[in-house]
Amino acid sequence: MIAPTRNLLLGLLSLVCLAFTGGVAYVLIAMPEMVEAPIVGSFELIDSESKPVTEADFAGRYMLMYFGYTFCPDVCPTELAKMAAALDILVETEPDKAAKLVPLFISVDPERDTPERLAEYAALFHPRLIALTGSPEQIRAVAAAYKVFYVKVHPEGSATGKQDYLMDHSSQIYLMGPNAHYVTHYSSTLSAEQVAADLAKRVE
Ligand code: NI
Repeated sequence: MIAPTRNLLLGLLSLVCLAFTGGVAYVLIAMPEMVEAPIVGSFELIDSESKPVTEADFAGRYMLMYFGYTFCPDVCPTELAKMAAALDILVETEPDKAAKLVPLFISVDPERDTPERLAEYAALFHPRLIALTGSPEQIRAVAAAYKVFYVKVHPEGSATGKQDYLMDHSSQIYLMGPNAHYVTHYSSTLSAEQVAADLAKRVE
């Protein structure tokens, strides 16, 4: 729940500004810019055929994005299945809007998530799901841009060099607009039906 926390922080900041400057005008001018400080949705990654991909490849369409990794034991499969189900609901109810959505899965585990592995994994969830990975630097950059947290966690007793690690990572589905700007995000507490209903409202 990154954005609400951030908004709360900015709200508190504005109160502090108000208290210390006594300047209502200052707050009115400063606040909109601060609150709307957008997630800039630029990225340079590769797809499951190792072709370079940027947000410009999806210009004019909405990106529905989830960050995770293919070895994830629970959260990623659940959320990707939900994203796929929401898309399928929209295909039935609002086919024109569904056609404007690009579902994306971005790996936070580029070490193990090869393009080939990602292709097989994405196909398990939805024929339209596009899986992306990149160099560790590219993944760091896209995670920073989207304010996605991830960290490698070695199971207790496991040698740190071993490949059986987990990735702890933030889990939300992002909706980005046609210009790759942040629209909203969906937390794991929402159902596929709720996500689909919100998409129907927001996609134009
Ligand atoms: Ni996961």
